[in-house]
Amino acid sequence: MKIGIVGATGEVGRTMIKVLEDFKIPVNELKLFASKRSSGKTLTFNNASIVVEELTEDSMIQKFDFLLFSAGSTVSKIFAPIAAKAGNIVIDNSSAFRMEKEIPLVVPEINGHLLKNYRGIIANPNCSTIQMVLSLYKIHEKFKINEIFVSTYQAVSGAGYKAISELQRQLEGDKSKTVFPKQISHNVIPLIGEIEEDGFSTEEHKMINETRKILDDYSINVYPTTVRVPVFYGHSEAIVVKTKLPFNDISFIENQIKNSKNVILTNEIITPIDVAGSDYVYVSRLRKIDEFTFSFWNVADNIRVGAATNAIRILMLMVGLL
Ligand SMILES: NC(=O)c1ccc[n+]([C@@H]2O[C@H](COP(=O)([O-])OP(=O)(O)OC[C@H]3O[C@@H](n4cnc5c(N)ncnc54)[C@H](OP(=O)(O)O)[C@@H]3O)[C@@H](O)[C@H]2O)c1
Repeated sequence: MKIGIVGATGEVGRTMIKVLEDFKIPVNELKLFASKRSSGKTLTFNNASIVVEELTEDSMIQKFDFLLFSAGSTVSKIFAPIAAKAGNIVIDNSSAFRMEKEIPLVVPEINGHLLKNYRGIIANPNCSTIQMVLSLYKIHEKFKINEIFVSTYQAVSGAGYKAISELQRQLEGDKSKTVFPKQISHNVIPLIGEIEEDGFSTEEHKMINETRKILDDYSINVYPTTVRVPVFYGHSEAIVVKTKLPFNDISFIENQIKNSKNVILTNEIITPIDVAGSDYVYVSRLRKIDEFTFSFWNVADNIRVGAATNAIRILMLMVGLL
């Protein structure tokens, strides 16, 4: 397979290279693209050095089996349609196309069937949404979710490599900031993205809208509060769910979670550090509140589960490797 990664030098792009290696994807040719700033840098794939090229329109009309985009919405909006028009399949990590009606928004374990005979742009959902819907899709199948109340504890890596440097710098004493609206070291920031008219932030709107689209049920109400915490890798979520149908005993919820693909239910106390580098979502602290309501703690590696691994699983599903 010939694969191209756009945004290859970023947090998600580098992890995509690693996941391609880890999953032993049969890649004959890998092309790496980034901005002019990174052109000429080298990255390693399967022990070979690959020179990063500047992203150009010409580079996108070459024939690829898959192009994996993770260079932000602005870049995707310009270059993904060019690549798709040239006949390439694009798996896009940005939010540029996620809510477009004709673009599939895919978590392969949940709605991979949308990819059958599909070519063009495929949207990879938001990181916090992916790990939440993976824990919930089987519960929704059986007990029909009514409402989700979720507070997130999101790692700085979710905002890219500049955000990681900002936390590192602040921990070393330089409290200047360019990425986050407040100091992030020794602090938490109860805002991700911008506040919109209804008081919810852009990140919160992603969780609301994408959950409904992926679970294909627009009656689900989602009430998120998205919070940035001074953690380098791994998003956590405290989630309360109300179902439409009664589940009586919490063991019925446990069974649905145990039957969910790539989700691990555990009695252990799970923290972001515990899940770094893992391709699973971890569910713990599961509690029954009443026969329609339960609560749990949900943790995953945001760059892998929430971005790179989901994208590579989409690719694997399309070529029959999953
Ligand atoms: N981090 C996450 O947890 C996460 C999860 C899901 C989705 N996403 C999405 O994935 C995308 C990338 O995130 P990230 O965390 O990897 O960001 P990042 O670490 O800031 O990396 C951004 C990448 O995009 C490249 N880039 C920036 N401007 C460009 C341009 N004009 N032309 C070509 N390449 C350009 C950068 O290249 P240079 O090195 O040359 O600057 C770098 O490779 C974003 O859309 C983000 O929303 C991220």
